[in-house]
Amino acid sequence: MKKPVIAIDGYSSTGKSSISKIIAEKLGLIHLDTGALYRGVTWFALQNCLNDNGTINLERLFSSFDQIELEFKNQNGELVLFLNHIDISKAIRSNEVSDNVSLVAKQKEVRDFLLESQRSLAEKGGIIMDGRDIGTVVLPNADFKFFLTASIDERTKRRYNELLTLGIEAEEQQVKQNLIERDKIDSEREIAPLRQAEDAIVIDNTDLTKKETIQAILNHIQKI
Ligand code: C5P
Repeated sequence: MKKPVIAIDGYSSTGKSSISKIIAEKLGLIHLDTGALYRGVTWFALQNCLNDNGTINLERLFSSFDQIELEFKNQNGELVLFLNHIDISKAIRSNEVSDNVSLVAKQKEVRDFLLESQRSLAEKGGIIMDGRDIGTVVLPNADFKFFLTASIDERTKRRYNELLTLGIEAEEQQVKQNLIERDKIDSEREIAPLRQAEDAIVIDNTDLTKKETIQAILNHIQKI
């Protein structure tokens, strides 16, 4: 039997990636964190495509796509993101990347650059992909679609704790502001905006633990 294709979209810091990773392990699926790809391109731009005033030179980024090789490698069961053979899995979580990623991700050129590789990974089935436009644009025919949401205060707390765990300094107020701004840019952009697919199941996990959210998703999948 063909393994399912599952799309998980939603607001920033609703736990999409960590939840998807665990579901992938339970169901024997590949997990692709598409946010990491957008963060990777942003990290590259911050290293290589800056204007004198420190802003990202988008034209230079667009003409550098052929110098970007993104690859997930399995290291002791963890998928680690490499860009041109450099492990960037921690670097892409920095505040600098978070502050710039939505501006990079709203560019058509960037979305086009990343679209086909996401789609081709899903061709054989057996994948859970999380992001913002998976159920609407990348995999509109996914077997299951979920849309995660939670209150801004709860999401701020989660993201703040995640940064602390990674050893990245942050202030709670700044974290909250970044989430609000990213969600706004992501929702209002012209191409592939963050929105719930009509056929997605919405889960508000403000008051749910990670385990409970995972169970809610598995209940839907196993019901069918
Ligand atoms: O998932 P994460 O919060 O790491 O995503 C970082 C950013 O990447 C999002 O705020 C959004 O701008 C962009 N993104 C996107 N489409 C996706 C996944 C992420 O535009 N499918």
